[in-house]
Formats: sequence, C-alpha cells, structure tokens
Amino acid sequence: MILCGGLVAVEDSGLTCARRHRIVWASGMCFQEVLRENENVTEAGAPQHDWDDSYAGPPPPWDIGRPQPALVRLAEAGTLTGALLDVGCGTGEHTILAARHGARALGVDVSARAIETARRKAAARGVDASFRVLDVLRLGTLGETFDTLVDSGLFHVFDDATRGRYVTAAHAALRPGGHLHLMCFSDHQPGDRGPRRVTEDELRAAFGAGWRIVSLAPDRFEINPGLGTPTAEAWFADVVRLAPR
Ligand SMILES: C[S@@+](CC[C@H](N)C(=O)[O-])C[C@H]1O[C@@H](n2cnc3c(N)ncnc32)[C@H](O)[C@@H]1O
Repeated sequence: MILCGGLVAVEDSGLTCARRHRIVWASGMCFQEVLRENENVTEAGAPQHDWDDSYAGPPPPWDIGRPQPALVRLAEAGTLTGALLDVGCGTGEHTILAARHGARALGVDVSARAIETARRKAAARGVDASFRVLDVLRLGTLGETFDTLVDSGLFHVFDDATRGRYVTAAHAALRPGGHLHLMCFSDHQPGDRGPRRVTEDELRAAFGAGWRIVSLAPDRFEINPGLGTPTAEAWFADVVRLAPR
C-alpha cells in the first residue's frame, strides 16, 4: 500500500478480483490505486492488512470517537437491546453504546488493531462489552444468533458479489424477528471521495427475500474534520429478518 504525506486514512472500495482498487482519502483529494491480485485477502475479498493500516495512524474519517447520532437515537429509543452484534465495529463506539443501554453486546471486526482499541476503550469507560477479530462472512463460527445487528459503515465496503454473501451471513446470525440497523454511504453524497455509494434500489434489492424493510430513510454520517465536510449523506435502514415459511 502507498502511504504518503498528507494522507489521513484509507478505505477499501470493496472491489474484488484482478481490478481491485483502493480509495485513498487524503486531505482534500481522493485517489484510486490498483491493488495486486490476491493480495492477502479476507473471505470478503477485502485486503485484511489494509483495514489494520486504517487504524495505524490518526483516526480514519469514520472513527469519530463517539457513536453516530443516528445510532444514539436508536439506543435512546430503547431499540439496542438483547443479544446484539455490531458488525465491522471498528473501535467499538456502537458496541459500547449498546452495552451502556443494557444490551449483551459483541463487536466483531477484521482489524485486530481496531479490536484492541475497542477493548481498551470499553475497559477505560467501565463498560461490559465483548470484542472479537472476525470476518463478518464467518459469523457462523460464533455458533449463536442475535436479537439485533448493527452495521455502521460496513455494508458499503463490499462489492456486488460479496454484498450477497454479507446479507446471507447477517440473515443466519439473526433470530427470526430480529432487526438489522444498517447505515451506509448514500448515492446522495456528491463527488467520489470516500466509500462506494449505495442507492435505495440497491438496498431494497439486497434485502428482498427473507427480509422486511421496516424503514429506509436518508440520514447523515458524522465524519472527522479535515475532509472538507463535517457530515456525509447516508441511508439508514431498519430491516427485520423473517422466519422461514
Ligand atoms: C467504515 S468502517 C466503520 C467502523 C465502525 N462501524 C464505525 O462506525 O466506526 C468499516 C469497518 O469494517 C471493518 N471490516 C471490513 N471488512 C470486514 C469484514 N469482512 N468483516 C468484519 N469487519 C470488516 C473494517 O475493519 C472497519 O473497521
């Protein structure tokens, strides 16, 4: 990977195969870089060490040191309860938020560095939350199902093929009637800096059979200063996993 002066963070575009690219977030600019084929990939096709690299320097754009306001609203409404799994939890803000609101909260992420930070934060704040290094496509290895899944910023990292596998893994990890609360980058966000944009139609297609979309509305991600914008357009979805017929 390329690390150069002024670079504040990197995010994988989620494209796979021979023409995988990486979006590089640098101060005021965005670059795309072609990655080597089959470079140390996770099951998801995301270069594992790249996500760890995202957490090596200053906090990446999404790692704002507090939970996203949209998820705080959910927690305050009493929605983040029961056995809860935060997928792609990063440094754990939403896992910690849920634990503080009474959930038995587990956060998983492919980045060992992010998980280490999440554990440290939870301990420093006296919060009983659990964390594991895990590829979300291997959720089955946990051997348990959850009442609630939270995804802040993971769905949009996957390419089309992996997106389907993510949806299957999320379905298997939720009990029937369980909710997935998902926030992803929106096609309403202008320009091409940052992660892949997701359209409303793509979300509705991804959560078709086996799911019911309770709500799907525009929202906003707060992001770190330095990228020229304090917030980014998002979609926020509440999706219920249906029981098999
Ligand atoms: C945009 S960040 C969001 C992090 C966190 N949810 C937050 O709001 O701060 C996406 C996260 O997904 C993680 N990730 C990427 N691919 C993953 C996978 N296949 N399984 C689990 N985590 C993954 C990355 O390491 C990163 O922490």
